[in-house]
Amino acid sequence: MTVLVTGARGNIGSRLVEHLARTGRQVRASARDVTGLDVPDGVERVALDLTAPDEAALEGVRTAFLYPTFGDIGGFLAAAVKAEVEHVVLLSSPASYDPVEHAGPIGAAHQAIEAAVRESGLGHTVLYPSWLATNTIRDWGGQIKAGTVAIAFPDWRINPIHLDDYVEVAADLLVREQFRGRSVVLTGPESLSQREVVATVAAVLGRPIDVREQTREEAVAALPEWFPAPVFASLLDVAANAADVPATVNNNVERITGHPARTFAQWMRDNASAY
Ligand SMILES: NC(=O)c1ccc[n+]([C@@H]2O[C@H](COP(=O)([O-])OP(=O)(O)OC[C@H]3O[C@@H](n4cnc5c(N)ncnc54)[C@H](OP(=O)(O)O)[C@@H]3O)[C@@H](O)[C@H]2O)c1
Repeated sequence: MTVLVTGARGNIGSRLVEHLARTGRQVRASARDVTGLDVPDGVERVALDLTAPDEAALEGVRTAFLYPTFGDIGGFLAAAVKAEVEHVVLLSSPASYDPVEHAGPIGAAHQAIEAAVRESGLGHTVLYPSWLATNTIRDWGGQIKAGTVAIAFPDWRINPIHLDDYVEVAADLLVREQFRGRSVVLTGPESLSQREVVATVAAVLGRPIDVREQTREEAVAALPEWFPAPVFASLLDVAANAADVPATVNNNVERITGHPARTFAQWMRDNASAY
């Protein structure tokens, strides 16, 4: 049985390819451009854009991991039906159902791809991870190195998930049926304020890192060019709404993997060299 993993260069996709290969699965890793795509020995590589139907990439594929691509993936899904793909695992976002975010741009985009997968008729599970621990690198990497992180709403309580937990669950759903369902919400084990997350980074790295509270206007002015402004506005709305409000914690990681969800401190210990 071949497992197709799209987005094999992504934070999640790359780790999923590695995990499936290490556990002895037949894996096909895809990226839109496979030039320089590094995969473990024995893993096939294929160029694939989910917005274009691609029967060759689907040949012999039993299950597939899909990124929430923003574009029409109807042709690809129809090809997957024709190729008799048994189950797809779709990465989505809590923004899809969050009380504040669901009507905003992040919510709408994720709802659209969920609808496309649902309407395709393919067996599928939608996976909703909480705040990815890698956000600390994406959003604060440079500032962590410089020793001060500027944050609007630093008391926004989030629930960082260790990517290895997400990957273990996704792999489980791809290779066995037991926990497949309409949707699975995955969280880390603890509700932490962004301030506490930065304090954990500092404690594990063993150097002081200050938090400087920004106004909303300062945060918008400092937005990097690559980050779409409406998406950021939606995130700030959530942060403002959830300051000092406990983040959801659930037990799905433990129920599916058999071990407790890893803490953010564990993420830091496992990935300190990336900071
Ligand atoms: N940040 C959070 O806290 C959070 C929480 C919950 C859910 N999420 C979801 O997780 C996603 C981020 O995951 P990540 O960090 O692993 O992402 P990432 O590292 O940015 O990787 C995104 C991947 O999507 C692939 N992709 C984009 N367009 C594609 C297309 N048309 N066809 C095929 N593949 C395509 C890219 O592949 P190429 O190599 O071809 O470019 C890339 O590998 C977010 O977009 C969101 O939906 C995020």
